[in-house]
Amino acid sequence: MHIELAKTAGFCFGVKRAVETVYEQIRCHEDRKIYTYGPIIHNEEVIKDLRKQGVQVLHSEEDIQKIEDGVVVIRSHGVSRRIYDLLEEKNLTCIDATCPFVKKIHRIVDEESRKGSYIVIIGNGSHPEVEGIRGWAGEQASVIQTAEEAERFQVPETGRKVCIVAQTTFNYNKFKDLVEIIDKKGYDIIVLNTICNATKERQEEACRIAGRVDAMVVIGDRRSSNTQKLFEICKNECLNTYYIQTLDDLDMNQLRSVETVGITAGASTPNIIIEEVQRLCQN
Ligand code: F3S
Repeated sequence: MHIELAKTAGFCFGVKRAVETVYEQIRCHEDRKIYTYGPIIHNEEVIKDLRKQGVQVLHSEEDIQKIEDGVVVIRSHGVSRRIYDLLEEKNLTCIDATCPFVKKIHRIVDEESRKGSYIVIIGNGSHPEVEGIRGWAGEQASVIQTAEEAERFQVPETGRKVCIVAQTTFNYNKFKDLVEIIDKKGYDIIVLNTICNATKERQEEACRIAGRVDAMVVIGDRRSSNTQKLFEICKNECLNTYYIQTLDDLDMNQLRSVETVGITAGASTPNIIIEEVQRLCQN
């Protein structure tokens, strides 16, 4: 069986860095309690493993208030300024694993809002990354996700410049459409396309591979929306596409008669699972 493993399968740069940071902290601070602010990644296997090693997840500011000592790792999504302040106030050690691409957005909205610009974030307001960005954007930022919201959008004070940024995983075409709607309102706008290409590249590569193999295996957590999307894209190109979470879900009988198998994985799938699947297919 010939196997084609996608180069972009699995963790993106920012997530890889964040997960490695937690393991590094476990090694460096055997005597201290390690926390992550929010689950470091949306993958049950990784979270289970970290829990076994004593890492605890903090879910809210109240959770931070309750702890007295320890190391808190900030995940790739980043957090608002308030969280950094709170960690400092509580004298907790903060290890910042915010993805540098997200950090750049924090810097932009911080500087622009200080200069007086009104900040618009194109993205999903309930996503932690957007909540974090909002926490750097001054008092009155807006989050816009739909065309209706863009149509309704108005800057509270006239004459204020508008600075538009995007959630890193937002769809580029949708971003362009929403910016166009806002642009028609005649404000003085600056647009910064802060979308990260990691997701797009992973999807494009998966689509190309699925188009030329006999069967395709997509690995990822059941609840991971980017893995579901990858599965849909591959299924469209290759009917024999299988969605698996771990090695146990892979039914080798389904792959018996095929000559070529493609493998890809969602952004939160650890390398070790990808390698296991690759090995099993090779045998
Ligand atoms: Fe990943 Fe950072 Fe891009 S977390 S998706 S590399 S913004």
